[in-house]
Amino acid sequence: MGVKKIEKLWGGRFKKNINKEMEEFISSLSFDKKLVKHDLLGSIAHAQMLGKCKIINEEEKDKIVEGLKQILKEVQKGKIEIVNGEAEDIHSWVENKLKEKIGTIAGKLHIARSRNDQIALDERLYLKEEVLIIQDLLKDLQKSLMLTAQKNLGIIMPGYTHLQHAQPILFSHHLMAYFYMFERDKGRIQDLNKRVDILPLGSAALAGTFFPIDREYVATQLGFNQVSENSLDAVSDRDYILEFLSASAILMMHLSRLSEEIILWSSKEFNFIELDDSFCTGSSIMPQKKNPDAAELIRGKTGRIYGNLINLLIMMKALPLAYNHDMQEDKEPLFDTVSTLEKSLFLMSKMIETMQVNKEKMETSTKGDFSTATELADYLVKKGLSFREAHKLVGNIVIYCLENKKILEDLTLSELNFFHKDFNKDVLKILKPQSAIDAKDSYGGTSLKMVKESIQKAKKTLN
Ligand code: ARG
Repeated sequence: MGVKKIEKLWGGRFKKNINKEMEEFISSLSFDKKLVKHDLLGSIAHAQMLGKCKIINEEEKDKIVEGLKQILKEVQKGKIEIVNGEAEDIHSWVENKLKEKIGTIAGKLHIARSRNDQIALDERLYLKEEVLIIQDLLKDLQKSLMLTAQKNLGIIMPGYTHLQHAQPILFSHHLMAYFYMFERDKGRIQDLNKRVDILPLGSAALAGTFFPIDREYVATQLGFNQVSENSLDAVSDRDYILEFLSASAILMMHLSRLSEEIILWSSKEFNFIELDDSFCTGSSIMPQKKNPDAAELIRGKTGRIYGNLINLLIMMKALPLAYNHDMQEDKEPLFDTVSTLEKSLFLMSKMIETMQVNKEKMETSTKGDFSTATELADYLVKKGLSFREAHKLVGNIVIYCLENKKILEDLTLSELNFFHKDFNKDVLKILKPQSAIDAKDSYGGTSLKMVKESIQKAKKTLN
């Protein structure tokens, strides 16, 4: 309705018009319009190369490049809108617009090029940009974690295994654990970018081209590090997108674990942190509610990020070479993963930055939780017992405490000596959570010294 019908790029061979439902079904414009800038930049570089290699003349080249640059400007200023249904895909849309501007010369832009190498180019250009944005967002998140760890240095919390109190740790140590997960995520993304950074243009439909093109020149113009080696491979593979979706799935898994902890920690039972009001919502019926929505949604959206990876893996499975229209289905999962990831990273970083830490609640919750029992066992090992013997003996001490409603810190030396004669006065101080933490001075451990060092190192890594 009201949409001007524009000619098909492939219309020449057809006697009949395309069926309307068919036309809608195959159209990708509604989503590949996201690639308009990349399509235009790729086209400009291609036209410049055609001119340089004298495949088109200087005047033709100038007209085409000028026309494309104008379209780019108008798109960026919001002067032209890309209306769904206006063209089959973004490549056709650009060419149609160019024809409106400069006439039939526009048709020369497609010499030595196919939409098959064009879409691979657009996606690579797009992903190269997004990879940088995501790395920056990851850095911001790491910075939030690092600064929050620094600000709260010294706060003790229970460390968990099986979600049961295990051993006391520093809250900062816990936060820094995520810092390192995100460091590896950053590394994975940086690494996969090497395989994104390859120019596919010049592969044409699948076989390369008869025209004397200069692919190195186009690569330099567009800032690609390398030119693809095999034309069939270049137009038919999407492994660089799959790598990105896998790295994103792993990254999202990390975000979902952090989200889960934030949700637990802000519950009444834990009450370790309080999220800032600006990252929570309330309930329409229960006036007292304050819900950790951002964290819940990041946790929830992890499902679709995994789904996007599986979607593309299945779509690509067993496709014969070279290009198949199935591959048009790669775009929505890719775009969805990028935007979900970017929003999640941003919100997570803000949530961490603005949350209040409840030092008192964290520290009192280690009281009487027997989480220094290992210290007691280690103490006996130092006196010459085997760890197994010591473990059993301390187990008996725990039973004694439970039966007599005592906590480890309450035990007197004579009570301890009842279990083993080698306990001396110095044992009493190792039962405090603080001493247990100080004692974990092995490299990468939770002692204040180690955590301080780790934060210092993290700072260097970020700079
Ligand atoms: N819209 C297509 C895609 O996203 C572009 C390539 C189309 N090539 C073709 N021969 N129909 O994959």
